[in-house]
Parts: sequence; structure tokens; C-alpha cells
Amino acid sequence: MGLLIVSLWLWLLPAMVLSGVPREMEEDTEDSCRSYIHENLLYIDCSDRGLNDLPEGLDINAQVLLLANNNFITYPSQLEKFTKVEIMDLSGNRLTGSLPAYYENFKELKILNLSNNNYDSWLSSDYSLSIKKLDLSKNKINGIDEDTFSKFPRLAILDLSENRIYDLPIGIFEKATSLEVLILSRNYFSEVPKFQSSSLKNLRLSSCQITNFQVNSLSGMQSLLEIDLSINQIESIPDNLASNSLQELDLSYNEIDTLTDLTFSSLPHLAVLDLRCNEFKEVWSTSHFASNPFLREVHVKGNRWSCEGFNVNLLLTYEYLTKEPPKVFDKGSLICYSPSNVTQMSWQQAYIRTWHADEKTMSSYTFMAVIIGMIIGVILTSFVCRFLISSNRPNPPRPTPETTVLNGNATQASTESVVMRVPLREDLPPTYDEALLMPRLNSSFHSLPDFVDEDANTDRRNRRSRSIGDLTETRPRVGDRRSVRRTVEVRIH
Ligand SMILES: *[C@@H]1O[C@H](CO)[C@@H](O)[C@H](O)[C@H]1NC(C)=O
Ligand SMILES: *[C@@H]1O[C@H](CO)[C@@H](O)[C@H](O)[C@H]1NC(C)=O
Repeated sequence: MGLLIVSLWLWLLPAMVLSGVPREMEEDTEDSCRSYIHENLLYIDCSDRGLNDLPEGLDINAQVLLLANNNFITYPSQLEKFTKVEIMDLSGNRLTGSLPAYYENFKELKILNLSNNNYDSWLSSDYSLSIKKLDLSKNKINGIDEDTFSKFPRLAILDLSENRIYDLPIGIFEKATSLEVLILSRNYFSEVPKFQSSSLKNLRLSSCQITNFQVNSLSGMQSLLEIDLSINQIESIPDNLASNSLQELDLSYNEIDTLTDLTFSSLPHLAVLDLRCNEFKEVWSTSHFASNPFLREVHVKGNRWSCEGFNVNLLLTYEYLTKEPPKVFDKGSLICYSPSNVTQMSWQQAYIRTWHADEKTMSSYTFMAVIIGMIIGVILTSFVCRFLISSNRPNPPRPTPETTVLNGNATQASTESVVMRVPLREDLPPTYDEALLMPRLNSSFHSLPDFVDEDANTDRRNRRSRSIGDLTETRPRVGDRRSVRRTVEVRIH
């Protein structure tokens, strides 16, 4: 039973899709132009039908008329009736003449596409048009009347790319006071054209064979934010090129080889700079960007950077462009092209290998110098310490004439008794206990040969008893003791 329901449903599903859905979306007219509603706009699509006039019976309430890629040589006669049209695409036909007067009645017309037709000039009309977006690209236009666009008070976007324009009058857009985007790419300008326009924000002049860039090129466009001059033959950016509004400058694929501190000095709002694929060799200095506090994006790829010599810019500019937040997103574009032994190294690496390599050897010298210094220091310190110790040491007591008479060796012995603190009675031989407390004579044993010999030959017990006799009998010991006593006296006072 369940299987039956599922198979019935599977059988019905394609039938539902085929019958219901397309009928809502599409409604074929007699002449096979498609008509449909999309986003609340009524479309009539007669594109790609080889038409040279419009078929009868089209809904004149259409808001979007798609008439591209047909054989219209003149504007079709029926067109006049479509007074509600908002978007009209007549691209890919063979139109040449000026706009028919009835365009004045297309109050809702916002977008007119005349791309890829046969216009070789664009003539001014006597009436005003409400068009916001006019596409005249891919024609053969080489001349435009100076007051043409004064009839387009709402025109915001004008595409004149891929035409044959060599030059345009300076005031041509002065009265198109809504114009914001002007596309002039793929034309034949030899120099950056100068326009007066208070509204223009975006000017595109890519692929125009421009060689000449005059210093006052941007001065007539007070609102200009972006200019695209990519793929031209510009060899240098004029010093002091001035614009108070410009934020994005695209000069990629040109032949520029130098920047100076004056290049961007009068572009205070510059934020995005594209200098890819030019002929820069010498790595820039950060001072070139001293007047551009808002610079946030720089494109440098495709230049043949020379990292020759001890150029500190290799490091400073590298840091300027890569430190957070980075201005160059692709650090791989900051690479050396020459000399050959640093090819493919980053500017920073090349700098470190050439400069820092020396610094490394320098630092090893420094290390050695530190070691030598330390050794010398230690030696000096030990000398000083020795000197201090010897000067702190009490002078050996000068033997009195008495002691000298008694014993010639007294001086030598006395030096050994510096720390002697045993209280001794005056002019009497030491008692047994005193004698025990007295310091041993280490270095002056040679002056007591008998004592040494006996000491070497007898055991500890015998030595003790004998030593009493020695001490009492032997003169040197007495003299020694006296000098010791004097020493003690000296230290007390
Ligand atoms: C005009 O038509 C061309 C070709 O059909 C198309 O590439 C272009 O985007 C259209 N322009 C506008 C403004 O719609
Ligand atoms: C590259 O060669 C130059 C001399 O031709 C030399 O001064 C430099 O140190 C070399 N750099 C490296 C990284 O070997």
C-alpha cells in the first residue's frame, strides 16, 4: 500500500513541475518575445532574435525592455509607446543615429545600454533625459559635443570604454552635476585628460596609451576619490600632483621608475596605492610617504627591486610596509630581483645578509673584547686586592738592637706571630701552658735545626717533654718570644 502511494507521488511530481511552475513564470507572446515579472518589474525579453523592428502586440507597460543582440539599425518605431520603461538594453545592435526625441518622455528610464553599437560620435540633444546610467562602451566614438552631458542632470555612471576617444573638452562634464563614475578605459588618450567636475568620484582611464601625466590633471575634480591609470605608458608621476580628496591611486602596469619625497606630498588623503608591475628598482624611502598619514594599502608586486649596496631602506621601508597593520598584504612581493646572490630574498633578508652579516662578525669581536676585558679586569683586581691585603698587614716589628744582639734571625721569626694573642708575662720564660698556646714555627724551622731533627725522630709524647727544655734553653726561642710580645703591644695600642 505504502509503495503504491510513493510510486504515485513520484509519477505525479514531474507532471506538477512541468505544468504548474513554468506557466507562472513565463508567458510566450505570439512573436516569441518572453514576457515575465521579476522583482515586481514587468520584463519583455526580445534579445537574440535577429529582429530589425519590434513585433506587434507587446505589453507597452513593460518596465524592462531587453532588446540586445538584434539587427536594429535605427531605433524601432514601436519603442515610442513604452513610456514606463525603466531599463532599456539595446546593446549589440547597429545603431548610429542620435537618440529620438521621444526619449524625453521616458521619465522613468534609468538605465540605457547602447554598448556595442555603431556610434562614431555622440551628438547633443535638445531635451533633458532622466537617465542615471548610460552605457556607450564598445562603439567607435571619437568625438562628443561639449554640451552633450548637460542634458543628463541625473547621470551618475557613464561608460565610454572601448571607443576611439583621443581627447575630450575640459568642460564636458561640468554640467552633469550628478556624474560620479566615468569609465574611459580602452581609448586613445595620450595624456591624462583634465575635466571640470565637482561631483566625479571615480575616474577610470585604464589601457589608454597615456604617456603624459600633467601636474594639474586632478585639480578640476574636487570630489575625486579614485583614479585608475593602470596599463598605460606613464614614466613618471609629476611632483606635487595635487588632490585634496583622492584616496585611491592605481598606477599599476606603467613604466614608472622613481618616486621622490614630492611625488605624494600633495595627496593628503591617499589611502590605497597600486604600483604593481612598474620599473622600480631602487627600494623606496619611507620619507616618500611622510605626507600620507592615511595610507593603508600599497601594492608593489612585479617590480624588479635591486637590493644592491648597504641600503638601509631595505629594512626601514620593509618595516614601514609590513608592520601591524600591514600596508602590503603579500609580503612575498617585497623581494629582491638583483643582485643575483640575493634574488628571491625579501628586502629584510637581503639587508640582514649584507649588513647584519658584518654586524655578526662585529659582535663576535665585541664578545672577544669583553672576554679580554674581563681577564684584564680579573688580573687588575687581584693585583689591587693583593696590594690592599699587604698594606693592611701590620709592618713586621722592627727588631730592637737588643733582639738583634740576641738573635740575628729574630726578624724572620716575628713575621709568623702576627695573630699571637697569648698574654705573656714580662721577662720570664713561658710556662708549659703558654708554650703550648704559642704558634708553631713553620717557615723558620730551618733556624732551629736541632729542634727539627729531634722532632722528626721522636714521637709526640717525647717531643712535648723535650720541647720544654728547648724553649727554656735555646736563645732564639727567647728572642722570638720577646719580639712576639712587642707585636702584641703594638696591636693593642
Ligand atoms: C550592457 O550590455 C552589455 C552586453 O550585453 C553588458 O555586458 C553590460 O553589462 C550592459 N551594461 C549595463 C550598464 O547593464
Ligand atoms: C652579494 O654580493 C655582494 C657583492 O657582489 C656582497 O657585497 C654581498 O655581501 C653579497 N650578499 C650575500 C647575501 O651574499
